[in-house]
Amino acid sequence: MISAARPLAILSALAEEQAGLVDQLQGAQRVTHAGREFWQGALDGLPVVLALSRIGKVAAATTSAALIERFGVGAIVFTGVAGGVGRNVQVGDVVVGTGYVQHDMDASPLFPRYQIPLTGQTAIGADAALARALVFACVVGLQGVQHAGRAPMVHQGLVASGDRFVNGQEETARIVDTLRLHGHEPLAVEMEGAAVAQVCHDYGLPFAAVRAISDRADDTAHADFPVFVRDVASVYARRIIAEFVRTCQDSQPRL
Ligand code: ADE
Repeated sequence: MISAARPLAILSALAEEQAGLVDQLQGAQRVTHAGREFWQGALDGLPVVLALSRIGKVAAATTSAALIERFGVGAIVFTGVAGGVGRNVQVGDVVVGTGYVQHDMDASPLFPRYQIPLTGQTAIGADAALARALVFACVVGLQGVQHAGRAPMVHQGLVASGDRFVNGQEETARIVDTLRLHGHEPLAVEMEGAAVAQVCHDYGLPFAAVRAISDRADDTAHADFPVFVRDVASVYARRIIAEFVRTCQDSQPRL
């Protein structure tokens, strides 16, 4: 599923999401590159590089390219938060992306709406085996967790990325309705996933991501988001990644 010879990159957008992972890193070494901090080490014996994508598609693409070119990672897994836009996707749930589209990509009429120019591609698929392992890690890792009095649901589907914090019912409706009109049914919106997916696709590397739902991308999203990031995001990331690393270890000889 992941290369035994090359480290796994675990990418998060924000320091709060990464905090619980750095604490657990064995043999941690901090490296500064491209104005960013990267943490090399091992989680439960699995060689990893932890990094912060920062926010937005360009920042995430730069970080991804650095992880591949400078640190030689063999796969990238993203853990972060997103706004829920699917009908049953509630705050506290998680979404494992099966595909990624840029909701703000529009080079029409030169290219079809949402198509990444000169690639012929619109949605980029996640690596199926990595995504399956993330779903398993969510189900097992979040056992016993409750958010707002209910157990988190684990959803799988399309994630839409764009350089906007989506913060209003009207804006969400516009984004979702236009995507639907073009045959895309998004479950969540965020600001990095499709960029990381595109870089990994270009380099032929597996990519998958899990997003905890911090808000509903509605009129209160700006208030819901920081509270969730502060109180919940790192707990989810730590539990999910611990289980994910165990799954990776079970599927290959221990290093
Ligand atoms: N990440 C978390 N919530 C988000 C939102 N509402 N819009 C974009 N990215 C997000």
